[in-house]
Amino acid sequence: MKTSIHIENKIRPKASRNGLKYHIKTFGCQMNEHDSEKIAGIFNNDGMTKSDDIDNADVLFVNTCTIRENADDKLYGTLGHLKKWKSLAPNRRLLVGGCAAQKDKELVRERAPWVDVVIGTHNTTEIINLLNQAEDWGPITEIIEETTDIETEIAAVRESSVSAFVTIQIGCNNSCTFCIVPSVRGIEISRRPSDIINEIKSLAHDGVKEITLLGQNVNSYGRDLMINNRRKPYFTELLYKIHDIDGIERIRFTSPHPKDFKIETLKAVADLPKVANQIHIPLQSGSNKILSSMHRGYNQKRFLEKVDLIKSLIPNVSISSDIIVGFPGENEDDFQQTMDVVNYAEFDLIFMFKFSPRPGTVAFDYVDQFVEKKVIDDRFMRLKVRQTEISEKRYKRYQNTKQTMLVEKVSKKDNNILTGRIEGGHIVHLESSSENIGKLLNVNIYDSTPFFLKATL
Ligand code: 5AD
Ligand code: SF4
Repeated sequence: MKTSIHIENKIRPKASRNGLKYHIKTFGCQMNEHDSEKIAGIFNNDGMTKSDDIDNADVLFVNTCTIRENADDKLYGTLGHLKKWKSLAPNRRLLVGGCAAQKDKELVRERAPWVDVVIGTHNTTEIINLLNQAEDWGPITEIIEETTDIETEIAAVRESSVSAFVTIQIGCNNSCTFCIVPSVRGIEISRRPSDIINEIKSLAHDGVKEITLLGQNVNSYGRDLMINNRRKPYFTELLYKIHDIDGIERIRFTSPHPKDFKIETLKAVADLPKVANQIHIPLQSGSNKILSSMHRGYNQKRFLEKVDLIKSLIPNVSISSDIIVGFPGENEDDFQQTMDVVNYAEFDLIFMFKFSPRPGTVAFDYVDQFVEKKVIDDRFMRLKVRQTEISEKRYKRYQNTKQTMLVEKVSKKDNNILTGRIEGGHIVHLESSSENIGKLLNVNIYDSTPFFLKATL
């Protein structure tokens, strides 16, 4: 259902904004980062050029996130500041899209009436039409509630020429009770394998060496597809096909769901040299009571069995996870069970989040079981301290070893340092000059911290 009447842009043929500059501000996850790259492709196609400096931009696209409450707060703070940006030149155009726009279209308009275009997550290819309409008719909001197709014809303008995101699936069919994603990103839709393969071949042709396959639930990829009415192209099969593409040296994927990890996929990760020995397996909680209340579809025992399987099948694997602290009803014993899993699994890295009640999710209504803020803060701190010790130990294992690093870019903080990652996904700071960007190099790891490795050539 559309929330505004969609008028086909017949007023002028194809607008061209030749010479104008655009800037994109992205909040949130890798999916959003990649959506911004696709928007950049659309803007370039319309004749605009990218500007890293917002003050030089004529058109600004803000790609929003709504996964936790602080993302919303940041957005409205940013939109407040942008009122001034917009007022400094009459022809400046401000466009807001992404998950918060999809969820809170009226609120964005109400709190920031100076926004020219509010667009959702399902109709980004309409962005130039909407911009044209806003210029002719004034501010416009267009959100559609669902999509049936993944747009594949957009040539994304990627941030990195070495490492590229490739969408394999959009949406999510799970119903984790804390999560807003299914309501802003819609049902799970897999992209056709041939489109994925063609895109990756063309990336390889352009010199890209590493690809990260993106989806909300990548290891359930293909369940909605039928090829020749016979069989489904499962995720594992996709990995094998991508592995055959010349020029691609490394393949990563995110995010999988623990309940959907098949042994075949883990074997493929072990068998295929180009598929990185890195597995992200989001735990969320170690307590069976909380996992059940989250609707995660596994318990502690099943999760630990998967961790054991991952470790036994994939040599020198690096495992990362997501954990939510302070889910409604979490008591000290539940939290201890999360700590037990963390101690047992010894993740290389975790992404930790304090539970954030999202209106519209099931857990938002568990209000009578909300955990006190100071209790959440205390548990969060204890988990952080423990994980830092574990990460320190995990990163130390690379000290005085040689590793293959894909060099990605110059460090923002130091011009004499290049950053990139080893196969396990660990960030490396390499002392080297910029001619090594884009290369897969054998480097000496001489030191480590709990967050990155230090290397020389
Ligand atoms: N509160 C806290 N963390 C959340 N996440 C998703 N929704 C919430 C929420 N409401 C976390 C989960 C997920 C990651 C992407 O964000 O850990 O895996
Ligand atoms: Fe959200 Fe759960 Fe889907 Fe992940 S699997 S996007 S946490 S609903």
